[in-house]
Formats: sequence, C-alpha cells, structure tokens
Amino acid sequence: MPLKKLVFFYASQTISQLLNHNNLNKSQNLKLPSLEITDWSKFKHRGMLLDCCRHFFSVATIKKYLRLMSYYKMNILHWHLTEDQGWRIAIDKYPNLITKGAYRNDNNKTYGGYYSKSEMKEIVKYAKSLKINIIPEIEMPGHSQAAIAAYPHLSCTGKAYEVANDWGVFKEIYCAGNDSVFTFLESVLNEVIEIFPYEYIHIGGDEAPKYRWENCKKCQKRIAENNLRDEHELQSYFIKRISEFLKSKGKSIIGWDEILEGGLAKNAIVQSWRGTKGGIEAARSGNKVIMSPTSHAYFDYGIKTTNLEKVYSFKPLPSELSNDERKLIIGGECNVWTEHIYNEEELDSKVFPRLLAMAEVLWTNKNESDFDDFKKRLQYHYPILKIKGVDYGIEVLPCKIDVELKNKKLNIKLVKGSNDLELKYKWRNITNYIKYSENSLIENNSGDLIVQAFKAGKTYGDTISQPFKFHKAVAKTTYYNKEYSPSYPANNETSLTDAKLGTLEFRDGNWQGFWDTNIDCTIDLKEITKIEKIKTRFYQYNNSWIFFPKTINYKTSVDSLNWTKWNEVSNKQQPKDRGKIIQEFISKNSKTKARYINIQTHRLEKVPNWHEAAGSKTWLFLDEIIVE
Ligand code: ACM
Ligand code: ZN
Repeated sequence: MPLKKLVFFYASQTISQLLNHNNLNKSQNLKLPSLEITDWSKFKHRGMLLDCCRHFFSVATIKKYLRLMSYYKMNILHWHLTEDQGWRIAIDKYPNLITKGAYRNDNNKTYGGYYSKSEMKEIVKYAKSLKINIIPEIEMPGHSQAAIAAYPHLSCTGKAYEVANDWGVFKEIYCAGNDSVFTFLESVLNEVIEIFPYEYIHIGGDEAPKYRWENCKKCQKRIAENNLRDEHELQSYFIKRISEFLKSKGKSIIGWDEILEGGLAKNAIVQSWRGTKGGIEAARSGNKVIMSPTSHAYFDYGIKTTNLEKVYSFKPLPSELSNDERKLIIGGECNVWTEHIYNEEELDSKVFPRLLAMAEVLWTNKNESDFDDFKKRLQYHYPILKIKGVDYGIEVLPCKIDVELKNKKLNIKLVKGSNDLELKYKWRNITNYIKYSENSLIENNSGDLIVQAFKAGKTYGDTISQPFKFHKAVAKTTYYNKEYSPSYPANNETSLTDAKLGTLEFRDGNWQGFWDTNIDCTIDLKEITKIEKIKTRFYQYNNSWIFFPKTINYKTSVDSLNWTKWNEVSNKQQPKDRGKIIQEFISKNSKTKARYINIQTHRLEKVPNWHEAAGSKTWLFLDEIIVE
C-alpha cells in the first residue's frame, strides 16, 4: 500500500470521526472544528482475532466488523477458520472438510456453516478497501479434530471421530509421522494462498497435547529418524516443515508462542498469548512478535477479569527488552474466542467498548496513559456506535459484593465499579429495589442478594444474584494444612466460612481452587458447639480439569487432639459427567459436640484417560464448609 494513500485514508477516518462527533443526527450544515492534527500509528500491526469456528458469524457480521475496525484504524483481521468444533473454509480438493467438518452435533441439532471461496474473496476485497489485511489461521497440529473427523487418516489412530461438540483442548491432533498429513496440509495451504494475498499465514501451533504422538509408531519413527529429542522437537519439526513450504510460496508464518518449544522456525512471527514472556524470548532470538497476552487482550474474558481500564493499560513493549529488540514487536491484537459468544449482539457486547481502548493503545503506544481522559472521550463514541448498529457492552464490573469479618460478624458491602454508577438491591422479603449507600446494612441472613447497577437512570450490566447461607461456622477461622492456589483464591482465608456461595460460574470469585493437591483444612468454631451436619460444596467442570473429589472425610474434635471420624462421603457423580455441576457432600452425626472440624479430600490425582488432554493435573474447587 503506497504510504500516501494510507495517510489520506487515516486522515479521512479522523475527519469522519470529527464530523460524527460534531454533527450528531444532522445531515446538512455539518461543522468541523478548526484544528491541526499531526498523527501516525506507532505499531504496524493493529489486529483483532475473530474465532468463527466455535460459533459461526455471517459475511454481513464480518463486514460490519471490518468497517468498525477500520473506523478505529485497526488494520488486521486475524480470521480463525479451523478448529476442533468446525472447519469453516471451503477447500476444493477436500470436500469433506465442509460437508462433514463444518457441522457438529449440538444438543441433537446440527450446528455449523462455512465460507465459500467467493465469499472469502469478497471479504478480502472489502477489507482491502478499508485498508485491512486478513490473516487466515489454519490451525496445526492441534485444534484439528474437525479436519480429522472429515479425513480420519490425518490422525495417529486413523479412527473415526466426531467434530468436537464441547469446549476444551482435544488430544486428537494431526499425526506428525504420516507424510500424507503434510500432503493434505500443503494442498490446503495452496488453496488458502489463492484466497488470501497478504504475506502472512497463521498456522496456530497452540495447545497440542502430545499424548497421541507419544503412543504413535509413525510419530516415534519420525522422532528417531530425525534425531529429535522429544515430542516438542517433533512439533518444531512439524512447524518448520510447513514454514519452509510456505516460504517456497513467498509466505511467512505466524504461530502462537508454543512454536518456541523445541526450536523456532527462522522467519516465524510469534504471537505471544501466555503472557508476554514468549514474545520476549522470540524478540531476543531476533524474531518478530505480536503481543496479545491473556492478561489484557482476551475479549472473550468477562469484564470482571478484563475491564476497559485493564485493556487501556496494555503496554505492548515489554520493559525487559532493549530498544533494538523492541523494534521487533510489530504490534498487538485483541483476541475474540467465541466458545461463549453465540451471536452478533453478544459479540458486540464483548468487543465494545474494549476495542476502542485496544485501538488507541496500538495507534498511540502512550507511555503514560490517562484512563480518565480516555473514558471521557469514549462517552462521545457511544451514540455513534449505536448509529453504527453496535450493541456495546459495559466498561467495568458494576458491583463487587464484599464480605468482611467485623466484631465476629459478617459485614456485607456492595462496592461499585465506578463513581458514575448507582447501586440498588433486593434482599429477602423486600420486593422493590432499595438504594444502596455506604451506610446501608445488609443483615446476616440466608437468601439471595439481588443487585442491579444503574447509570444515568438506566440499568447498567446484568442483575447480580448472590446466594448467602448462614450456618454455625460463618466467620470462624480456617487453618489450611494444604494451600489453595493463588490463581483461585476466592475470599482468601475467610472464603470457606464467609456464607457466600458459589454459582455455576467458577470464576465468580466464590470458588477456591486447589491445584494438584488434596484439601486438608480445619475450622475452629472457637467454642464447643452442637453439630449435626457438615456439608461441603464442590464444583465439577471436566473441560477445565476441575473434578469432584472421590471421597471426603470429616472429623471433629473437642480439643484438636482426639478426633472422631464421621462417615466417609462419596462422590455421587461421575468424573465423565459433562457440564458445570455443583454437588454437596453431606455427612450427619446427630450427637456431636465439638470445637474443631477437619476435612480431607481424596481426589482424582490425574486427568483420566478418556479426557481429551490426558496426563494433566487436576483441580478441586470448594466454596463453603457448611456446619449445621
Ligand atoms: C490461545 O488462546 N489458545 C491461543
Ligand atoms: Zn502419529
């Protein structure tokens, strides 16, 4: 693209923004402020990844996104087109990829779709007119179950598999020992190149479990013949072979930071997603880097983990790098994975307004970013986004429900996400919302606390419903003999006795996670207490390696020296049971008087064989120890 044309294009986008801001709902006598702008982008690569595999988005939606990206001067659509759950790109040589690979069984309904070659070419052309390049992502060697479902000879086992209809990381990946896999991929890439003229092809490379390769004769033969040390070097062999092929066609590869493992292909661009350390390592070895760390750039994450301010604070250039190394950071992307984004409205609410923050970071790369100033300017964009048909989401989690221990009682407090919000709540028998103020006292009682935030008189964000359960151990001290994970601390040491119950969303801040360890903890009730029942609430979601314990043992004691064992409680569900499940492990012992309660789990030590990612460690998730 000649630079002059680009300068005019971005200048025209600036003028278009200024016209919109100064002439809302006017069609004539448009006014522009008199001003002078000298401005240019700091990063060359200003992208958004859109996953059209987990959920499918129409050509019209993609065009809408291209227009919006371009309006905010983003210039790369990273188009995620192949996955375990669906292959979306028509390839003439392999028709099963779309007849079989594009559809999955979703609760006994067929779900899927694909883009024809003419649709993709039309999108490429449309993007070009908006000064956006499209990088197709053709995933390998992992995330390839849909292709394997279409052509079973591509896997190590050769067995027939279904297109995945669940989320997670799957162990069926392309066989690296089978030359016909490379023939397949090269033929696919030949057709991909015809559609997408941009110089880069993204080949994925992330999350490829090595379980099949470890147990495959062909893969092991390849390792031996090429003097490779292990399966990581085999992955590196795989990526380098594809990289060489694409190089012969005048293309370069981009891969997720896993492509560093086992040795990096020479001209590969690394997209750093597991933090920035992959990007740092790649830049130090002289490779170009795209930054999209989960910490700031994952727009599929909820507003609780990645609010607008967090995105705006994104610094694509790590301070660890020298000035020369920093030049290798060509830019960044926001990643929109769509496991839990079902349609365009949900997409809008996840992407906006966060895209504006990302766009500004990648355009300006400011050292000192002033979020308040950005937020003020952002407000002018909302009416324009509305006119452009964007069902934008919220900037910040509207409310946090805190419980604090005060004078041996729990204090429930609502903390609003930003000053321009007002909170109202309903509690127990109260059916109308009550305005919340700092002095509001929410009584210690069991029930669901319902909170709604308002901004300028309108509801802001979803209604929050937080269950509370009051019982004899509430606000009592927990001693941990085994530590919880800092990744899921919930309410730290008070978590298991804070009366706040977890919901089916395991990131709701109520579930305390224990990684690769059993739970062994003791509650001190501070005085000898009549106890009839002990209940623990556990969570299972096997997609995320969270399993129920096999059994739980409860013990009680008057003096913490002599202990009485209660009946062991067994898991009533199966590790295989799908979905997000909560289970109470209840034990009764009506004659007990005790001061101390100890709980110990016996967990599933290893992810079982049938699980898609065999060999990994497991989680236990617990929210409350209920004593009655
Ligand atoms: C990724 O999020 N698996 C790149
Ligand atoms: Zn194999």
